[in-house]
Amino acid sequence: MERTFIMLKPDAVQRGLAGEMIVRFEKKGFKLVGMKLIQVDRTLAEEHYAEHRGKGFFEPTVAYIMSSPVVALVWEGKNVVALARELMGATNPANANPGSIRGMYAMDISRNVIHGSDSVTSAEREIALYFKPEELVDYRKASDEWLSE
Ligand code: TYD
Ligand code: MG
Repeated sequence: MERTFIMLKPDAVQRGLAGEMIVRFEKKGFKLVGMKLIQVDRTLAEEHYAEHRGKGFFEPTVAYIMSSPVVALVWEGKNVVALARELMGATNPANANPGSIRGMYAMDISRNVIHGSDSVTSAEREIALYFKPEELVDYRKASDEWLSE
C-alpha cells in the first residue's frame, strides 16, 4: 500500500493546529503508520530540502523547519501521495483552495504549516530520512474494509 511523509511544521505545533490537521487525514480514511514529535537539526533540514539548495528561499525555509518542534507522520492509503497534496492545498496559501489545510490555516508561503511528499519516490526518500523501518507500524483496522472495495 502507498505511503507518504507529512510534516506538521513548527508554526502548526506552536499555533495548536496539530490535532485539527491530523483529524483531516484520519477522516479521509488514511491509516497512520508512523508519528513522532521531533526537533529537526540543520543536517536533517538541509537534507529534507536538498532539491532546493541554491534557491533564494532555501536558507529561510531550512531555518523555519528547525525553529521549533515538528510532528513527523507517515500515512498509508490508496493514492495517498497525490490525495494528501490535494488535502494540503497549493504551496502558497494565498493560492490554496479555501477548504484545504493551507487554505484554512495559513496565509503566507513562508509559514505554510505543512509539508507533504510530492511523489512516491520522494515519499520513500523522506520516510527513510525521518523514520527507522521499525518505527513504522503495520496493523489492521476494523475500518479497512469500509474504505475501499
Ligand atoms: P516546494 O517543494 O516547492 O513546495 P511544497 O512544500 O508544496 O512541496 O517548496 C518547499 C517549501 O519552500 C515550501 O513549502 C515553502 C518554501 N518556499 C518558499 O518559501 N518560497 C518559494 O517561492 C517556494 C517555491 C517555496
Ligand atoms: Mg516540495
